[in-house]
Amino acid sequence: MEGNIFEKILGHDSLFVDRRAFDHAFEPSTLPHRDHEVEALVRNLVDALNGHIPSNMLLYGVPGSGKTVVTRFVLGQLLDKGEEMGQRVETYEINCRVVDTKYRVFQTIATQLARRGDTPIPFTGWPTDRVLDALIERMDGAGGVHIIVLDEIDNLVARAGDGLLYNLTSLNTSLRNSRCCIIGISNDLHFTQQLDPRVSSRLSQEDIVFHPYGAPEISDILLERVSTGLREDVLGPGVLELCSALAAQEHGDARRALDLLRISVQKAEQRSQKSVDPRHVRMAQSQLEYDQVTPVLKTLPLHQKLLLFSIRLNEENGLRNISTGETYRTYSEACMKIRVEPLTPRRISSLLNELDTLGLIMARNVSKGRGGRSKQVNSAIPKAVDAITTMSESEPLIAEAALGRYNLQGLL
Ligand SMILES: Nc1ncnc2c1ncn2[C@@H]1O[C@H](COP(=O)(O)OP(=O)(O)OP(=O)(O)O)[C@@H](O)[C@H]1O
Ligand SMILES: [Mg+2]
Repeated sequence: MEGNIFEKILGHDSLFVDRRAFDHAFEPSTLPHRDHEVEALVRNLVDALNGHIPSNMLLYGVPGSGKTVVTRFVLGQLLDKGEEMGQRVETYEINCRVVDTKYRVFQTIATQLARRGDTPIPFTGWPTDRVLDALIERMDGAGGVHIIVLDEIDNLVARAGDGLLYNLTSLNTSLRNSRCCIIGISNDLHFTQQLDPRVSSRLSQEDIVFHPYGAPEISDILLERVSTGLREDVLGPGVLELCSALAAQEHGDARRALDLLRISVQKAEQRSQKSVDPRHVRMAQSQLEYDQVTPVLKTLPLHQKLLLFSIRLNEENGLRNISTGETYRTYSEACMKIRVEPLTPRRISSLLNELDTLGLIMARNVSKGRGGRSKQVNSAIPKAVDAITTMSESEPLIAEAALGRYNLQGLL
């Protein structure tokens, strides 16, 4: 091979000017279509600058609707203003998917407040009350207003219960020289139903709902990134519109739109093309669907895999809308081939519901005259994914079940 192997790619004219504009962590300087949400946060948090306690808040909205980015933006500006005015404001952003116990939440905040000479709080080992006492002491030592953001808060409550929220929303009764306010962020609209009513009324003093973006709104968000991230005239006709439309279908997810556009540009680059056209977007969409569904397929438990295998096998043989009875027959046949005891039809019915919840199948009830009802199932796996092969790769028994003939209804 001639020359250095990186040379060819390095010398390549990239279609990107700044790829970071498409990173998930990128912090845009403007947030199109989130004026109301920004304003609602500002109206509440301005109290921190006036020496009052802002209300606790809950922010809701589907994934990719801008909850995290809007909160960061507003808190960043609040910190700047506080500094300018000489008002002490502290903010903490806790991702509850990562920091998911009461102890760790207290420890993380207290550690951020540590001053020279403070005893370091270990990751585990202290009684939780001691960590809470240290936190209160440090908050009072710092003074001012402390704003604690609990992002993806539903994870924490699902794992550790609402005791932490009880403690945090009562902090103001223990603090003498400082004040605190809690902002919870969730994409589960029913999140407060899991909470003790006393906790939920204290936490959701003010709620903001982030509505899903529509296609034109997503286009505006993308346009901002295109102007900083891409070379001029890289996008062919219809590309932006297609990315926006596909992401709008996907519950109005701006993250999805940014990913789609970034991957579309990469697809064009990989093919040494000078501009992006809608075919690249379609390729990007297939890749995203593939990346989304493959890990789920691979980690399904054996009987779920067998069930999905049975549905896909029928479909590959031209049979759609198959009944649960039919699915069960194929499933039992597959179990026999691999010498595994089939589960009862009742269990299978609940496994079908789980596959439905995971979005891998679509099950619908149909009436069969005289008040009888039955369920029909279809797979909902994107075309780009070969489900049986994917499942076989992670489970040899599926590969074994796929061998040989089956007595499928339509083929009898
Ligand atoms: N109005 C907007 N303007 C610019 N970029 C936006 C806007 N809304 C969302 N984004 C971008 O879309 C992506 C997703 O936004 P964000 O992370 O804030 O969503 P989220 O509502 O917190 O989602 P999740 O519930 O999954 O955490 C981020 O890259 C963010 O920068
Ligand atoms: Mg978020």
